[in-house]
Amino acid sequence: MEANSDIKTTPKGFHCCLCRVNLPNVPSLDQHVKGRKHQTLSTVRATRKTQEERSVFVSGIKPDISQTDVTEYFQRFGPIADVIMDKDKGVYAIVQFSETDSIQAALSCVEHQMKGLKLRVKAREKKEFKLIPKKKNDPQNLQQVFDHLKPQLCHLLSVDAQIHYVVERCQLGENEKKARGLLVQLLQEVFVEFFPDSQILPFGSSVNTFGIHSCDIDLFLDLENTKVFQARAKSTAEQAVEGMSDDGHSEDSILSDIDLSTASPAEVLDLVAAILRRCVPSVHKVHVVNSARLPVVKFHHRELNLQGDITINNRLAVRNTRFLQLCSGIDDRLRPLVYTIRYWAKQKQLAGNPSGAGPLLNNYALTLLIIFFLQNCDPPVLPTVDQLKDMACEEEECVIEGWNCTFPSQPIAVPPSKNTQSLSTLLAGFFTFYAKFDFAGSVISVREGHALPITDFLSQNKEEEAMQEEQPTKTPSPKLGPLNLLDPFELSHNVAGNLNERSQRSFQRECQELDKYCRSLQYQRKSTKGKSWGLVRMFTPHGEVPHTKPERLTVSIPFKSASLPEGLRSELHMAGDSFRLLWFQRVCSAVEVVFQSVLRCPLVPFTDAVFGKDSAVNAAEEMESPSTSLNTSTNDSCGSVESQNEASPPGTAVVGAKRPLSSGSDASVSPQGKKPRLAKGGRPEVPPWICVLKHMVWAGRRKVRRELIKDTDSRPEGSCMELEAQVTARIVEKEPELKEPLEFKVQPQMMGGTESTRTVLKLEPTCDTTGVFHDFFHFLEAFLPKMVETLLEKEIGCN
Ligand code: UTP
Repeated sequence: MEANSDIKTTPKGFHCCLCRVNLPNVPSLDQHVKGRKHQTLSTVRATRKTQEERSVFVSGIKPDISQTDVTEYFQRFGPIADVIMDKDKGVYAIVQFSETDSIQAALSCVEHQMKGLKLRVKAREKKEFKLIPKKKNDPQNLQQVFDHLKPQLCHLLSVDAQIHYVVERCQLGENEKKARGLLVQLLQEVFVEFFPDSQILPFGSSVNTFGIHSCDIDLFLDLENTKVFQARAKSTAEQAVEGMSDDGHSEDSILSDIDLSTASPAEVLDLVAAILRRCVPSVHKVHVVNSARLPVVKFHHRELNLQGDITINNRLAVRNTRFLQLCSGIDDRLRPLVYTIRYWAKQKQLAGNPSGAGPLLNNYALTLLIIFFLQNCDPPVLPTVDQLKDMACEEEECVIEGWNCTFPSQPIAVPPSKNTQSLSTLLAGFFTFYAKFDFAGSVISVREGHALPITDFLSQNKEEEAMQEEQPTKTPSPKLGPLNLLDPFELSHNVAGNLNERSQRSFQRECQELDKYCRSLQYQRKSTKGKSWGLVRMFTPHGEVPHTKPERLTVSIPFKSASLPEGLRSELHMAGDSFRLLWFQRVCSAVEVVFQSVLRCPLVPFTDAVFGKDSAVNAAEEMESPSTSLNTSTNDSCGSVESQNEASPPGTAVVGAKRPLSSGSDASVSPQGKKPRLAKGGRPEVPPWICVLKHMVWAGRRKVRRELIKDTDSRPEGSCMELEAQVTARIVEKEPELKEPLEFKVQPQMMGGTESTRTVLKLEPTCDTTGVFHDFFHFLEAFLPKMVETLLEKEIGCN
């Protein structure tokens, strides 16, 4: 790559000063420089530079001077491209000429006089172009707040005292609460003018007892009574003499423009936005977001510097806010825990995305995770939602949109918890609980207070969907993802449904780190040497604490219920508690297919390799002989794989050309056709495989893939498996063999139950004289899970 002054070499790779990003190696640097962000910023910088070189800075202007006056005056030095006026203060202007030469003409003029004013004209200062990150997400901003908090926390005597201090520093002050109350009142007064009998109700962090400085204000505009009003007015008007109405409101109100009983949410929100723009002082930046799960009008209040959201179909949110308030009142340890865990999650960029979009946990979901943990403490700190329902009296019964939202209105109705654990113990307990939690295999139910097996939610096949249409009263299934957390009331809503694999993994990894940290003295005891301790180390953002993770050579293949095909989902559902074993077998079959058919290095059972005269090497050689062409041995579809080995029992995939894979339908058979022994904790113990690799099939794959895709003649028909197999074939054909083949052991292991369900493959080199194993391993880490997922999606190895 040619020299680029934006790029600096660092001990960890490279740093792009223009885009402010770190790049670990040359390929990623290359990609970054060609990427959209870098290209756009380079163009913006070049444009700014040209503009700077062609413009002058003019001062001495008075507010009554217009843009036209300035343009007319400076036109005498050359054609003008633009004039930017400092409108608020009316003291300066930037005049941009179309040609660079005009600058000299303007600067060489000794005196500039315009409308009796003496103007000062000078060349623009050359400013270095800098990318300014958006304030709200600015990690530097967070860092500054944390830098301030750090010494004060270090001075305190216990973790409990630190937790209370965090609450004190973060919580909404009385004046902030009052200001929010006044805004709600003002909006109520305005909206009732346009929507008679309407009500504006705050929900979310402003009122749920977990609000922090500058948190947004969520509002629900309840138009139910307005609809009734409108319907009544309409029927009265129909009865009355034409053109006359006995109701003062209906004729001149905005309601005459819209029929609330038939209008779409978007139409109503447009109206709400228009009212905000025109009638509420200090409100600006009003816009409607229709793409959100619940469409919303966003606005900003200038004086209060407050971001607000108004929704219209959100009665459930007002009710679940009441639920959070109740939980806060039932046990006063919840509130400090929520503040502390929210702060930690924000520091680690796991939650609290201010825009509400993206794959991070939202604050509501995080709070529910804390409540769920407290329901599962021994003894429980909080009751389940079902238990709360039973504690409510008749008047407290509440059903919204068909969901039972009954709970007592006052905490006094709930018996106090017998749990006496301190805040610091509970905080540590939260991390331990989620460090070991089987996210992939469970659905979290705050309603029932325990995790439900994911298999209960996997049976949503076509027939059931059809039944659902006939019986709409049946609860629809939530959208499953890597983290499944049911709303306590709207049981078909996964409040963490927006998370992706990566964000779920980061959350659990951070919990695992803190689980370990909380056992150390650094967490429990104040440092006598003034070092960071307790919450301070917990809150320290990444990059400040060196990670000294021992290298673990394992490839992890997570259980992704959402991406499984219908047939397999039904089978897993039928398997009930032993669904993991069945899924594990399918994964092992798929792993064998990837090694054999895509990477051309068959996996051979370790025992065969040790006792069976180098069968791994033989298998590898066999793979490379022309008779075992990849084009015929690889195929993505279930049927085709079966057809390769007609001797195999139905539903089996092929390993090497020698041995049938395990039957997918027999859960007691190991992937290698052997009965798995059940190890401690009911996990199957599977003997390892051994594998021999003669070519660097990972090197230059991207380039070869690109060539294959471009080259229409050799472009493989069909799926990505086929393409990947051809990529390997081309590498094997063109690149020389390794001097010594790489030999390694693969030990598959099934995890789940007390941690996230996944298949873990432990890799260990047994002969690596050329030192390539690590490169191969890093390639496999990303490649293998993707390939296995593709195979499972296509039901390879299924009946
Ligand atoms: P937030 O996640 O924004 O929580 O949801 P918050 O406590 O207000 O935190 P900030 O605003 O990020 O500081 C706001 C409210 O929206 C409802 C809940 O009532 C929640 O309190 N909500 C959110 C739902 O009902 N369902 C969801 O999936 C998310």
